[in-house]
Amino acid sequence: MKIQDFKTHKQSGRKISMVTCYDHWSAQIINSSNVDVILVGDSLAMVMHGHPTTLAATVPLMALHTAAVVKGAPDKFVIADLPFMSYRKGLSENMNAMEELMRAGAQALKLEGAKGNLELIRHAVDSGVPIQGHLGLTPQSIHQLGGFKVQGRSPQEYSDLVVQAQQLEEAGCFSVVLECVPTPLAETISSKLSIPTIGIGAGLDTDGQVLVLQDMLGMNPKFKPKFLRTYLDGFEMLKNSLNEYHNDVTAQQFPTEKESYL
Ligand code: KIV
Repeated sequence: MKIQDFKTHKQSGRKISMVTCYDHWSAQIINSSNVDVILVGDSLAMVMHGHPTTLAATVPLMALHTAAVVKGAPDKFVIADLPFMSYRKGLSENMNAMEELMRAGAQALKLEGAKGNLELIRHAVDSGVPIQGHLGLTPQSIHQLGGFKVQGRSPQEYSDLVVQAQQLEEAGCFSVVLECVPTPLAETISSKLSIPTIGIGAGLDTDGQVLVLQDMLGMNPKFKPKFLRTYLDGFEMLKNSLNEYHNDVTAQQFPTEKESYL
């Protein structure tokens, strides 16, 4: 998948699949799959580092994970998240953050919200940095939003988000993530934009879907939002494998002669 394919897929109606990835060995698996796009999301602060929100992600941390992913998935289009505050500090510092993530190997960057970001997006795009927008539930604003909940339900919020999506396209974004918004709102935005929308908790009418890898693989059985479909009982499978190994060791069934240097 190349940057141009985002538009051609939108035009042809071919849906785009995206998953998050934060590490080298998962990246190798995704690289051998048919999934179109990898997002090194700032959700890594929660999934990989155990923080309660994404606010703990920093540019150096994002760059470290991005470099690991890019090396494992050389055939995939890799987008990296600009973390909390890294693009709200004035043009020069914002561009330094972008430079660090692009030099780590990202092919595009994602940032949250339209308000106050449009000038930066134009500058980034003019500087050769493709930008993906992100609207709806924007986790970096979790304390402003008052929790992880569906956005755009009131008529005011609804029309606000439509306008912001159009502003992101006009500013030069190649795509927009829509997170946790009602299906009719995602449908309206998707029909008004000529760039693809990628949904998570946004219904079937977006131009693509994104899920957090560990969520779709069932690695966190306690996390069961309405929008999530799990494709594997990963937590149980891994736990059972570990228990099998433990049993083999304690029963002196591992290693055998075949697994030893004689
Ligand atoms: O950080 C992330 O994982 C994301 C996706 C949920 C879109 O931004």
